[in-house]
Amino acid sequence: MPAIGKNEIAAALDRYRPLIDDWPAAVETFSAPLPVTLWANPERGGLQALRQASGADGLDSAPTAWCPELLRFPAGTRFGIAWWYLAGLAHSQEEVSLLPVEVLNPRPGERVLDLCAAPGGKTARIAFAVGSGGTVVANDVNMDRLRALRSTVDRLGLTNISVTRHDAAAYPKDAGTYDRVLVDAPCSDEGTLRKNRKVAQRIGKVDYERMARRQRAILMRGAQLCKVGGEIVYSTCTLAPEENEAVIDQVVREAIHLGLEILPVEVPGFKLSPGVDSWNGQRFAPEVTLTARAWPHHNDTGGFFIARLRKTADLYDRSVEALPPEPSDSDIWREVAGERFGIDQGTWQPYTIHRQNKRGLHLVNAAHTLAPRPEPESVGMFFIKERDRYPKLSTAAAMTLGPLATRNVIDLDESQVTAFHDRETFPLDAAQQRACDGTGYVMARYRVHVLGIGLYLAEKGTLASYFPKRWTPKGSRP
Ligand SMILES: C[S@@+](CC[C@H](N)C(=O)[O-])C[C@H]1O[C@@H](n2cnc3c(N)ncnc32)[C@H](O)[C@@H]1O
Repeated sequence: MPAIGKNEIAAALDRYRPLIDDWPAAVETFSAPLPVTLWANPERGGLQALRQASGADGLDSAPTAWCPELLRFPAGTRFGIAWWYLAGLAHSQEEVSLLPVEVLNPRPGERVLDLCAAPGGKTARIAFAVGSGGTVVANDVNMDRLRALRSTVDRLGLTNISVTRHDAAAYPKDAGTYDRVLVDAPCSDEGTLRKNRKVAQRIGKVDYERMARRQRAILMRGAQLCKVGGEIVYSTCTLAPEENEAVIDQVVREAIHLGLEILPVEVPGFKLSPGVDSWNGQRFAPEVTLTARAWPHHNDTGGFFIARLRKTADLYDRSVEALPPEPSDSDIWREVAGERFGIDQGTWQPYTIHRQNKRGLHLVNAAHTLAPRPEPESVGMFFIKERDRYPKLSTAAAMTLGPLATRNVIDLDESQVTAFHDRETFPLDAAQQRACDGTGYVMARYRVHVLGIGLYLAEKGTLASYFPKRWTPKGSRP
């Protein structure tokens, strides 16, 4: 395939030239590689820990003007197998991708539905915002992408998310109502051109009407599932007005059984442009210009579209009682987490321990509630694998609860950290062995962060790492 240069990018973008305020600057920026951005996990030391750990690896970063926990690194920066990334100190997400949740503005204790959620960067931001008293339901149709979502939320230590797998356009209407709904819709991805130059070849050739039909159906269902007085954010990473302003214009007009009001979109410190008022001869309702576009050359980012809607009425009563998941009758965790690691009994109070399936137990915040439909794929964090001969704490649970452990925690040195993340078996020194009460599971820690679970064999003096394969697949180290 011939290289895609600036001229090809300009030719591909020509369709949008009438919408762009500074054409040379836009072509220049769209042709340049995208800076890398990482946000800090507030529960794992926040920005300071991220700055320190990435700085110690020689990575330069700069703060962003609008998001205090977000750092920018030069394009091409690699960190996916850095110990601090695997330990959940940060998450990599494109800067514009953070905007929809900023605009959705979820508050502590709220119930939020993320209808097209995978791979989960926005879900995670919502989950931190609603906190331990809130509930996030993350839905997607794609199983592989849902697996990636689960890895993300496990690595970050989130226990307030349930996952469903359903066509969002046909999500059960009696799935209860939510304080806020995010529709981060599947789209033609044109705004991701800086990350993937091949996108240039399809701009203008997309079946925009087919795409918009699906987007309207998903947004309409999202609006139905929002409570009256609640808010819905619709976002895409495409430049096409057919998938953006035209979708909002039509859904607001056609939602005659609902009241939907378009609200202004503002993010202090980040330059946004108003939504377009017309396209291809079609004039939109004047309020459609309250929606917002992020053009890459304004903030050195990718392209994005965001609309914010408030639901003001609904002809139907959609109230459904949402209940906490059933607590499990097994108390195996007392042995696996309490006795072996000395985690205090009181630790379990803010959680419900729930049996998801035969594989084991899940840990979910006690305030988490779910409607009877649809059946969730998973509730909260995978906690204890019971199917093994010796039931085992999950890596995610060890990383999250590890700071509360009082025994059988060993401190690794730098070379052991790499071996641990590569799932190797390696010898422990005498001091490390003294920290273990004989053969059994132990937690591995580096600095103050628990990295996961391993098996200590007293007769051999070794630790076998049980770090999950999917987090450091073979070949991921340069
Ligand atoms: C733009 S991506 C979402 C990105 C995600 N919100 C994030 O921030 O990580 C759109 C997602 O919609 C999903 N999707 C496509 N069609 C869908 C449908 N009918 N119902 C639910 N999800 C759908 C895709 O699998 C994809 O994961």
